[in-house]
Amino acid sequence: MKLIFLGPPGAGKGTLAVRAVGILETARGAPHPHISTGAIFRAAIAAQSPLGLKVKAILDSGRLVDDQTTVDLVRERLGREDAREGYILDGFPRTIPQAEALAGFSPVDRVLNFDIPDESVLERLGGRRVCRACGHNFHMIFDRPKREGVCDHCGGEVYTRDDDRPEAVLKRLEVYRAQTAPLIDFYRVKGLLIDVDARPGVEQVVENFTKALGLPG
Ligand code: AP5
Repeated sequence: MKLIFLGPPGAGKGTLAVRAVGILETARGAPHPHISTGAIFRAAIAAQSPLGLKVKAILDSGRLVDDQTTVDLVRERLGREDAREGYILDGFPRTIPQAEALAGFSPVDRVLNFDIPDESVLERLGGRRVCRACGHNFHMIFDRPKREGVCDHCGGEVYTRDDDRPEAVLKRLEVYRAQTAPLIDFYRVKGLLIDVDARPGVEQVVENFTKALGLPG
């Protein structure tokens, strides 16, 4: 199953995609990689690769990387063997040109639109902490690491993302409204969109989208 997880920053796309991988792989008996363009960019920045050097200032400011760079990266990633039976795209597409490009090389089956008000976004991103090594998301209120600053899963360093500073979060919300929210209607008119209320706790949201996709819970 080829899925897009759509929604504003902090809606929970990354957290939910990790859960969806296990559910889909069990239901379908085939790999379904979680492909996050944001995570790919952050890994490139950490490695100080040419891509990382090019995109660092863009990510820190909350603006979008250009469409061509992003589309080329996703096209290459989806061409790999493990994405043949399906995948979860988290954070891509983010503009109409990206969505049109994707339709040309890998049409998707469903788009989950995780709906959440701005005040919840600010609360979630204000408390988010991320493992530098494995990328696991924590939250200082909803899901604290057992030891301050240390990942429960791999022992890596838990840090605050540069783009979770309040001014960058406000910019990301503005960019989301202007450039990404139009994708909701783009996919709705194609009959691909499923709206999911992203306000409840993680377990409830997982149950809601699992049912909506007709997958066993
Ligand atoms: P990206 O990494 O994709 O950031 P984003 O879309 O802004 O999404 P986030 O990662 O901030 O939030 P999320 O929805 O995954 O929430 P999470 O699960 O972490 O992109 C970063 C940057 O890369 C962009 O700004 C841009 O510069 C660039 N970029 C990426 N893709 C691009 C593209 N296609 N084109 C151009 N540029 C691109 O959850 C948030 C917090 O809430 C966590 O602490 C979590 O523990 C907690 N939480 C989650 N769900 C719940 C729940 N149900 N209840 C309580 N707490 C919850």
